[in-house]
Parts: sequence; C-alpha cells; structure tokens
Amino acid sequence: MAKTRKIVLREDEMPRQWYNLAADLPNDPFMSPDGPVPAEAWAPVFPMNLVEQEYSTQRWIDIPEGVLELLTRWRPSPLHRAYNLEAAIGTPARIYYKNESLSPAGSHKPNTAVAQAWYNKEFGIKRLTTETGAGQWGSALSFACSLVGLECKVFMVRVSFDQKPYRKLMMQAWGGNCVASPSNETQAGRAILEKDPDTPGSLGIAISEAIEAAVTDPTGQTRYSLGSVLNHVMMHQTIIGLEAKKQLKIAGEKKVDVVIGCAGGGSNFAGLAFPFLYDKIHGADIDIIPVEPASCPTLTKAPYLYDHGDTAKMTPLVAMYTLGHSFIPPPIHAGGLRYHGMAPLVSKAVSKGLMSPQALHQLECYEAGILFAKTEGIIPAPETTHAIATTINEAKKAKEEGKEKVIIFNFSGHGLMDLTGYDKYLAGELTNYDLPDDVIKENLKELEGYPKP
Ligand SMILES: Cc1ncc(COP(=O)(O)O)c(C=O)c1O
Repeated sequence: MAKTRKIVLREDEMPRQWYNLAADLPNDPFMSPDGPVPAEAWAPVFPMNLVEQEYSTQRWIDIPEGVLELLTRWRPSPLHRAYNLEAAIGTPARIYYKNESLSPAGSHKPNTAVAQAWYNKEFGIKRLTTETGAGQWGSALSFACSLVGLECKVFMVRVSFDQKPYRKLMMQAWGGNCVASPSNETQAGRAILEKDPDTPGSLGIAISEAIEAAVTDPTGQTRYSLGSVLNHVMMHQTIIGLEAKKQLKIAGEKKVDVVIGCAGGGSNFAGLAFPFLYDKIHGADIDIIPVEPASCPTLTKAPYLYDHGDTAKMTPLVAMYTLGHSFIPPPIHAGGLRYHGMAPLVSKAVSKGLMSPQALHQLECYEAGILFAKTEGIIPAPETTHAIATTINEAKKAKEEGKEKVIIFNFSGHGLMDLTGYDKYLAGELTNYDLPDDVIKENLKELEGYPKP
C-alpha cells in the first residue's frame, strides 16, 4: 500500500488519565494581598471538583467515564504525516501534526470544554459564563454545555465579534448566548465603555465581565469557565500529547526532536508539549517551542511577574510572563493569541529554560498557512499558522543541516470561520506590527509594588 498518511487510534486506545505537569514542575501559588490564596477562596468562581484539580500535584489523574464518553464524539484525533508539506520544502525532516480541527467546534478547545461542563454539572451548577477571543472557546463551551444540559453565556471580544459573525451563530445553534465585550451588562464593561466607547476590547476585559456575571448571580448556580491559562485546563488538553506519543510509536518513531505549538494562553501548546516535557525533564533531548505573535510577545519580550489574569483585577495574582493586565493588543487576525499573560505552568517551564519561545509576524504566518492549505489541504486557523510557520523554519533548518529530524506540531484548529483574515492577507491589506519596548515598559508600571515570583 502507499505510504500511511494518518495514524489513527481506536476509541478503546484513548488515554484513560490526564498528565499533570504540576507534579514535576512545582509552581508559584496564586497570591492576594493577604498571602497565598487557599483553594476555598475560589468557591464562588469554579466548582470545587475543578478547584481540587487546579491545586492537585498528583501526576496522573483519571478521566471520568462520563468525560471519556463525551470525548469519543470526535476523539481520538488522527496524527497526520505531512508528506506534501515535506516535499514542498524539500526537507529530510519527518513532519507530523496532530489534527485537533476535527472536533465539532473546529479546534482543541472542546477537550477541556466537555470536561469542565461535565464537572460543573456533577457539582449541581446550572449555568456557565465565559469569555472568548477568536470565538473558538465560546463555541466549544456552548457545544459542551448543550451536551450536558447547562446554560452558557459568552462575552466575545468586540473586534472578533465584528470580524467573525459566524462564530456567534455557531454558539447560538448550540444554545449559547453571545454578547460583544465590553458590554453594558456588567460594571466592568460599563466602566471601560465610559472611558473608551470605541475600544476593540481584550481578553482581559471579557474575563472580568464573565467572572462578574458568574459571581453576582443571586441564585449561586452560575460558575465561570476559562478556556486556557489555568492548570486544570492545561491538564485536560494533555490528551493530545498522550495520544500523539502512542501514534508516533505506531509510526515507528523512536525519538522526537522538535515539538511546536502556537501559544495564546498556552493550552493547545501545553496539551501537545507537556507529555513530551515530562520526557525532557527525565533526560530526553527535545526542543520544545511555543510560538506567539510579535504583536503580543508575552514569552519573548515580557518579564516573569505576578499579575492579574483580567483587566478589572478580579482574579488573584498569577505568576506568569505578562504584558500587564491593561494591555490592549493591536487587532491582528489571530484573535486567540492576544492574551496579556501566559499559563503559569508554561511560564514556569520557560523561566526554567525548558522551552525556547519564538515570536512571529502575521504576514509570515499567513504565508505558511497558504502553503499548508495548498499542500496538506486544510485551511488553518490564523492562530495555528504560527505553529506551521515555525515548523517550516525548523524543517528548512534540518535541510541546511542535512538532518532527518522528527518534528511534530499541534494543528490547533481550522480557519473556515476566519476567512476574513485570509481575505485581507490575499488582498495585501495586512501589515506586520512590532510591539515597541516602551509601550511594554509603560504598561508594566501598573505592576509596581506587586510581589515577585
Ligand atoms: C485555533 C486556536 N489555536 C490556538 C488558540 C490559542 O489558545 P491557547 O493558547 O489556549 O491554545 C486559540 C484560541 O482561541 C484557537 O482558537
């Protein structure tokens, strides 16, 4: 038979446990002015079964049968060998990608959405609130809530709300209620609109609104759900890397050289990378690369500090690389990569020198996305093109060095709802944007006096 393009697992071969990196990489605690934040303090925000996971340092955590059943709607996801992309580059490297675009919402986000919806339902919660940047997370959570029977309210960053009307319609089809953020529905939203009625919004603002909407519900039956950043979200996503390791073995690969993912809040990257990071911590030689936009260069230009996860400072302080909680990113088209901070576990790993972050400009990423579409056939989400561009660069490097490297990247989502960005790129209307150092410095002034990790 011709060469194998897709390595697929049977449903009964899907991993039965998540990997928790916190067991191997102790993290800095959440902080408040009174010191470390105890688990109980999160009770109004998250159900306690998820808070327990957030604070857990147990290495392997069983995936409940109910969650496995939800995941099999689209999992296990295939691992593809990118033969045509390899041929176009002329590289001796073997390129693999984990195809997370096949979920009903079109990205990796449902992996944690169904888990979070299931745990909330178990805890007796009736309604979830959340924010969304690109609209991928909002649609994933709307989908998950419809499966388990929860209401879902989504605050969508204004600029994406305007750029991506079809994401809102997907949320509505699954029964979710989506409004543009900042909105007039919360104190946090009204305060921002008063200062700047034309603001494009930001993930930090939308998070403030969603948390406020959850904790002010007088029935006590609403909780907030976050699609990235937190430990338990990273953990739910590790099913990606755990499946990929099994699939690479089936493909006959004994060693992986480079692991790549785009990084907004860090979840799809962590999902693929953390199981490989476990190997690296235990001696394997692997280059692990998170890729971010040059316009929102959290890991490559910002310092590792304590900061709030949201603009209205409703969250405790989180130890992470941060551009400052008031940072309003330029409206580039990779809406999911515009968060001011980064997952604490990804941040910790970077601060320990275990990863090599890169920042890319959007024109290079769209060019890579087009090459991928023309060779492998799938049109990638603008976020995903960052991982593809770095993969292409690494494959070219392997060619120059004459090395048969094994490169794997996470294909975090398709771009079929993001064609406005492609339209602008193909019409030559997109430009690159470097975030000037003095803007970062100015933003970080607001963190003076905060504790240091
Ligand atoms: C397709 C896709 N990839 C990546 C991201 C970035 O998020 P994270 O860093 O949490 O994976 C998003 C966020 O919306 C996304 O939609």
